[in-house]
Amino acid sequence: MDVIHTVADLRKRLKREPSIALVPTMGNLHPGHIALVALAHEHGKCVVATIFVNRLQFEPGGDFDRYPRTLARDAQMLEGAGCHVVFAPDEKEMYPEPQRVHVTPPAVAEKLEGDFRPGHFQGVCTVVSKLFNVTTPHAAIFGKKDYQQLRVIRALERQLEFGIEIVGAETVREPDGLAMSSRNGYLSAEDRAKAPQLNRELVKVKAAIEAGSHRLHRHEEMAAADLAMAGWRVDYVAVRSQATLGAPGAHDKELVVLGAAWLGKTRLIDNLEIKIG
Ligand code: PAJ
Repeated sequence: MDVIHTVADLRKRLKREPSIALVPTMGNLHPGHIALVALAHEHGKCVVATIFVNRLQFEPGGDFDRYPRTLARDAQMLEGAGCHVVFAPDEKEMYPEPQRVHVTPPAVAEKLEGDFRPGHFQGVCTVVSKLFNVTTPHAAIFGKKDYQQLRVIRALERQLEFGIEIVGAETVREPDGLAMSSRNGYLSAEDRAKAPQLNRELVKVKAAIEAGSHRLHRHEEMAAADLAMAGWRVDYVAVRSQATLGAPGAHDKELVVLGAAWLGKTRLIDNLEIKIG
């Protein structure tokens, strides 16, 4: 496995690769990321993972500074997963001059996370476009854990015609249901014990709707109230149409319930797809 730090070296290394599958990450890897690498092997001969903590997608006062940087361990995990190339640029390499050209995110970014993290998806779209340009992949793998991000990237790809197959990967969870996340490491022991409740509430909403309930709003409210009662600060619990993340239409069969809530200073997100009929 080659660990590469500059755009020039990366381009040189990938020049003659006939089929590249890209897994963009911010590092501090866990089995959820490794599952993306495993899936990448099905979509390209050369698997490239990128590790870059992208300042542009963190809001001011967010956790950019305390985001864990664990390159040596990450590289070991990627090597174990059969990754061929790791691209781990520093900030000067990715942003040698102040980034003035930004990618305006598609409409699907303007809700849910977009309401609570202004500028976040612009930062994601900008860095992902740049990573697409420097790796020229044939496929790129993104986790459903960040469901809206996956939707945003699909629309970005369509609108800018990158010609890259965007592949969605299932969410990998801890045995207690908590979606794996680099941010879980911030939780105190007490909050870590509470954390699977977010998933449990979404499971209840999904089960009620799949059992035939049409009271979507009621289920959203109940889940949010249960979380608040247990001490969470809830940003949203929302049942949406999978394709648009807008309010579901009467005949919509493919829904998703998404939740975002805080335990102390840590913000967790999760979601579950819902199939009706
Ligand atoms: P990061 O949070 O490191 O996540 C990298 C990729 O791993 C994303 O596609 C994310 O959805 C996926 N992922 C995270 N946890 C997962 C889990 N439990 N199961 C399955 N997949 C999981 O998302 C980002 O980085 C950044 O926004 C990035 C796309 C790299 C742009 O900076």
